[in-house]
Amino acid sequence: MLVHAITTNATYEFAADVRAGLTRPGQKELPSKYLYDELGSALFEAISHLPQYGLTRADERLLRRHSHEIVDRLAGPVAVAELGSGSGIKTRWLLEALSRRQRTFYYPVEISPSALARCEQELRDIESVSIVGFEREYLDGLLEVAARRKSDQHLLVLFLGSTIGNFDRSAGVKFLAEVRRILEPADSLLLGTDLEKPGTRLLQAYDDDLGVTAAFDLNLLARINRELNANFDLRQFAHVAKINEDSRSVEMHLRSKQRQTVTIAAADIEVEFLEGETIWTESSHKYSAEEIPQIARDAGFRCEAQWIDDQWPFAENLLVAH
Ligand code: AVJ
Repeated sequence: MLVHAITTNATYEFAADVRAGLTRPGQKELPSKYLYDELGSALFEAISHLPQYGLTRADERLLRRHSHEIVDRLAGPVAVAELGSGSGIKTRWLLEALSRRQRTFYYPVEISPSALARCEQELRDIESVSIVGFEREYLDGLLEVAARRKSDQHLLVLFLGSTIGNFDRSAGVKFLAEVRRILEPADSLLLGTDLEKPGTRLLQAYDDDLGVTAAFDLNLLARINRELNANFDLRQFAHVAKINEDSRSVEMHLRSKQRQTVTIAAADIEVEFLEGETIWTESSHKYSAEEIPQIARDAGFRCEAQWIDDQWPFAENLLVAH
């Protein structure tokens, strides 16, 4: 069963966010969540197959290898909520391990309806797992899941794939604290975090030669053209990946190749770009394994265990609410 949001104001919100991001003084920016429309989600999926982008495979390897250990550390009957399930492929191992000991409810929370539908397709064959998807923003979806919990049930929240890296560090802690507020003591959060690695390796991962990441990034402008009746000329923008040493992140930008003016009808704006000016579209923060326990404490959790991949520095962190 899929529970669909009433999305009448979605276009209006998109227009308002685009207007705010492109008319602000200084660095223009667009919220990275808008990268994930149907085409954008498919392009991200393609990115996860690139040899240079090891993040998703590391995440999946850790879950495959350690799902039993992870499940063994969880108390009592558990319902699983996943924030940003995507296709759900890597969640299979955990659900299989859990379903061996109990009937399991799985609640994917996902803003992309196509990703949510794929997730349900992908996992529907697992015996003793019931799937109820929520087409919602993370915290709205989690609130609904929490409202359905039975008194003897613990929640396991999955926040995988280093999606937390899209927040800057302080916003990341704030987000985890908001998740914590929806949870009860002894509930847990499995948090995937991409770890620091050399800049050259990161630049190859976020600016691949095949141009898949460039297409993923440029699709945001194509989406604005499609949904907000704009006239971005995609050939006049170039994808750029930059290392930000201060914030320990990789940033994606779209750089205007020339001076140009773009009209976005549904946002009721005309935007001027200088030659070389960029729109900042995403940040992907990288972590050290050692800083996670402190981040966990700051958000009201205890870091109970960590698993680190041996091929691509990435950590799965099991946090327990206290
Ligand atoms: C899905 C947010 C984890 O930050 O690595 C991949 C998105 N952007 N390539 C990431 C992404 C460019 C990805 N996350």
